[in-house]
Amino acid sequence: PGPSALDMARAFRRVRADPLSFLDEVRDEFGDVAAFPVPGTPALLLSGPDDVRHVLQTSARRWTKNTVQYSALGRITGDGLLASAEPSWIEHRRAAAPAFHRHRLAAVSEHVVGATDEALRGWDVGRAGPGEVEVSEVMARLALDVVGRALFGSDLSGHAERLLDATSAAAVLVVKAGRSILPLPHAAPTPLNRRIRAARREFDRLSHEIISGRRRSTARRDGSGDDLLGLLLDAGLSDDEIRDELVTMVIAGHETVAAGLTWTLMLLAEHPSDQDDLHREAVGLPVPPPIVGAGAAAPLTRAVVDEALRLYPPAWAISRRAAAADAIGGRDVPAGTLAIISPWVVHRHPGLWEAPLDFRPERFAAGRDHRGAYLPFGAGPRLCIGREFALAEMVVVLTRVLADFRFDTPPGWSRPFAEARVALHPRGGMRLVVTSRVGS
Ligand code: HEM
Repeated sequence: PGPSALDMARAFRRVRADPLSFLDEVRDEFGDVAAFPVPGTPALLLSGPDDVRHVLQTSARRWTKNTVQYSALGRITGDGLLASAEPSWIEHRRAAAPAFHRHRLAAVSEHVVGATDEALRGWDVGRAGPGEVEVSEVMARLALDVVGRALFGSDLSGHAERLLDATSAAAVLVVKAGRSILPLPHAAPTPLNRRIRAARREFDRLSHEIISGRRRSTARRDGSGDDLLGLLLDAGLSDDEIRDELVTMVIAGHETVAAGLTWTLMLLAEHPSDQDDLHREAVGLPVPPPIVGAGAAAPLTRAVVDEALRLYPPAWAISRRAAAADAIGGRDVPAGTLAIISPWVVHRHPGLWEAPLDFRPERFAAGRDHRGAYLPFGAGPRLCIGREFALAEMVVVLTRVLADFRFDTPPGWSRPFAEARVALHPRGGMRLVVTSRVGS
């Protein structure tokens, strides 16, 4: 069961304007396996933990990334890890993995502290008295800075403007491709295609600069370093392959983290007593905070991050295509079936979560297990490679920021609309009132 073609045609404008509510309604009405009447290919919205696990984990080999969303993203990231449906994916994943291992997180957290302190230097507004700050903008620059420093040993600040624009061009492309029934034309001189070409040129320039800079600074041809760039050079990837991974990390690694931090700060501004608890936790920590286990040293902060990623999962949709016939929920599905799994829908599923719309960080107190119902980072072999990195980064940024500043909602507050771009983005930004706690 699922919406009919007529339902879809009627809902067309609304789906464009608010795909998340539409997906929620489809699940409410048609249950955990809902069929969409997409021309040419059967498409299923899967929201039950068993089916989700089946597609992403136990039968992952049969469900590929050969989908419209990932091929659109691939126009910018090439065969980088996120979009790749190629067999080369596993070798690249192995080459990149050590850069994200837990033992590297201490170094990462030092980079995060450096980048956060740099970002906060501009925050005279909170120090001089309460002032409004567009938090999502600050977080985007900060997260980009962290990717540059921690993975490529590079200062990306000179490129920030153009990289943020290139990322947003990629977002527009992926969202448009996801909504469009016909493939988007690649060669036509449309404004979007021009933006995509400009984005590719920017990424090409940047990666050439970073790779040749590293080669010049090391006597040998290898990368000489255990950051991502060093590992990829040492593994013998070509410059084009490294470019694809670099672009992938810039796109996958900053918008998601920035969105996660932005929604977390909003939820804390709405829940001042939780925010006070986190402030107390933060001031008790050394600098940089010990990060073993991504937040074991700051359990309250970590629980708030987990809960914020439940309510506002930055990666709101995951897609797969069946390479061979399979069975879902006891029914046969043909090869070519498209599976859409939405962390947004699963995380707000009333059958899986008590009071799903409430902010209750205590759900994530140590020892509670939500496997199958909680997938902000995906699951199975294509689980986010940056999961531990992102969690550590978010915990460190929050402890630094909350130690010194308080966040409040401005007068006449209403929550920004959660816009489904590549990451879940607050439409119109996120303006919060910031006040210094230092000396108060
Ligand atoms: C994959 C979410 C941060 C790099 C994924 C996937 C999700 C996700 C859901 C799986 C997609 C799928 O199965 O189709 C997030 C969220 C983040 C975050 C919510 C932050 C809160 C990062 C960071 C990096 C990163 C910091 C790198 C610096 C990647 C890459 C993949 C990926 C390369 C593809 C992995 C593969 O297929 O081998 N991410 N991510 N992500 N993420 Fe993240």
